[in-house]
Amino acid sequence: KSRLTVPQFVARKAEGKKLTVLTAYDYPMASLVDQAGVDAILVGDTLSMVVQGHDSTIPVTLDEMIYHAEMVTRAVRNALVIVDMPFPSNLLGVHEAIRNAGRILKETGAQAVKLEGGADQAEVISGLVNAGIPVMAHIGLRPQLVHQMGGYKVQRDQDRLFNDARAAADAGAFSIVLECIPQTDAAEITKMIDIPTIGIGAGKECDGQVLVLNDMLGLTEGHVPKFVKQYAKIRETVTDAVRQYCEEVQSGEFPAPSHSFR
Ligand code: KIV
Ligand code: NA
Repeated sequence: KSRLTVPQFVARKAEGKKLTVLTAYDYPMASLVDQAGVDAILVGDTLSMVVQGHDSTIPVTLDEMIYHAEMVTRAVRNALVIVDMPFPSNLLGVHEAIRNAGRILKETGAQAVKLEGGADQAEVISGLVNAGIPVMAHIGLRPQLVHQMGGYKVQRDQDRLFNDARAAADAGAFSIVLECIPQTDAAEITKMIDIPTIGIGAGKECDGQVLVLNDMLGLTEGHVPKFVKQYAKIRETVTDAVRQYCEEVQSGEFPAPSHSFR
């Protein structure tokens, strides 16, 4: 069995079957997420925040994205693997974007890249697509623009959203992430374009959904956005296990004879 392909991913829209996407950043988690049955795994530049501990997605480098994407592709058998182009690897002209996205595909074995942008990135999207590199666009809230926006807010400029969605689709993107936009606008965009929309904070009428794995597993410390649903409490599980281990080592309960050699 081989991984889901980009055309198979796109075909889901016409089939009316929702697409499931989650992020992953390393071998063990990617392996679990893949075997549990998601359609696509995104090596997101949220790596910068949830793995590296930075307070935005700006610091992570292309080399670091490639390093983690390699771990993920080694684990994934079934899902489509998509890798984020980190800031500013897609912003230095079409030529440089092809060089950087080309490195991602060559060095990691991922099948597609994602980049933040819509109308403003149309030329880059079509350049990559002409080079045989499938592109997922990302419009609405764009975390790489945090310094320009001064924070993370719901994006309500409807004209801009529609224009970005159309431009990304026309430029040849195979799918678009809609982040943090009103659900009515996401529904409208989903009807307007032929490629699948993948929502995060964009309501249920998108063709699919994506979440940051660490957020939905309850692994992220502190605040998580309103659009996140926590499906597990991994921090509690880990904390309990470590506390119990420390207690049992102190008390002499661990290691027991069954963990020892005679
Ligand atoms: O970097 C990321 O994890 C993302 C998803 C949240 C869409 O871009
Ligand atoms: Na991202």
